[in-house]
Amino acid sequence: MGDCLIELVENHRSIRSFQKEPVPESDLELIAEAARRAPTAWNLMPVSIIAVTNKGLRKRLAKAVGNQEHVAKAPLNLVFSVDYAKLREAYRQARSNELKPKLSHFLPALIDLGIMSGWAALAAESLGYGVCFVALYINPCVVSEILELPKQVIPMVDLLIGKPAEAPQKRPRHPMRAILSVNRYSPEPEIRGKVILPVYEAWLSTFLEVIGPNGYMDETLRKTFECLKLKGFDTSIQE
Ligand SMILES: Cc1cc2nc3c(=O)[nH]c(=O)nc-3n(C[C@H](O)[C@H](O)[C@H](O)COP(=O)(O)O)c2cc1C
Repeated sequence: MGDCLIELVENHRSIRSFQKEPVPESDLELIAEAARRAPTAWNLMPVSIIAVTNKGLRKRLAKAVGNQEHVAKAPLNLVFSVDYAKLREAYRQARSNELKPKLSHFLPALIDLGIMSGWAALAAESLGYGVCFVALYINPCVVSEILELPKQVIPMVDLLIGKPAEAPQKRPRHPMRAILSVNRYSPEPEIRGKVILPVYEAWLSTFLEVIGPNGYMDETLRKTFECLKLKGFDTSIQE
């Protein structure tokens, strides 16, 4: 079992070209079960998944994330959302009281969502599917409209799933010594910076742009905040 999992992760590459055949419901259930069993802070499970199989919806999602064609082409899109609507409702029913979700609710939910979707991705790969994550946080409000999500349900990532129609090269990762150290942080950031830079060689300008000032990240955070506010989260920060 251990060997299988290590082999699976060693062979991972994101797939962006898929065969047309749909993912059977029995496989969808296994994949969703892996997400459902994932650990979650305080066992709160503040996450929901929508399985999008409808071609028209997939096309609209593809457009909402900057015309990424592979979104429409993957026969199954699993949209993972932070979902405080169900928790708020449970709270109301237990306490007859209103809960206003805040940033302090959103941030741990986001980590849970990352773990859940990661487990789903591994389950899908173990069944022979190709997967690719797609960031929905670049346009959560539009995705929300497309999927008619209620208030306090914020879509964050789309996991594309389908039988692969390509076999891309493995993408490089940071060398181990820039990731893992034991008992104390080492080597120092200067050395880490130096050893990771070659990883970005082929797309250095994109890398610099993404993390640079006024880059993609700022716009993403702005959009996420805008959506949180619109969908009933309190985004104020108490100092
Ligand atoms: C949170 C997250 C968001 C991502 N967003 C996108 C995306 O919007 N479009 C896309 O094609 N790939 C996306 N990816 C896939 C990454 O680009 C990919 O994992 C990375 O380049 C490494 O390649 P590999 O998965 O083949 O090893 C995303 C991955 C993650 C984890």
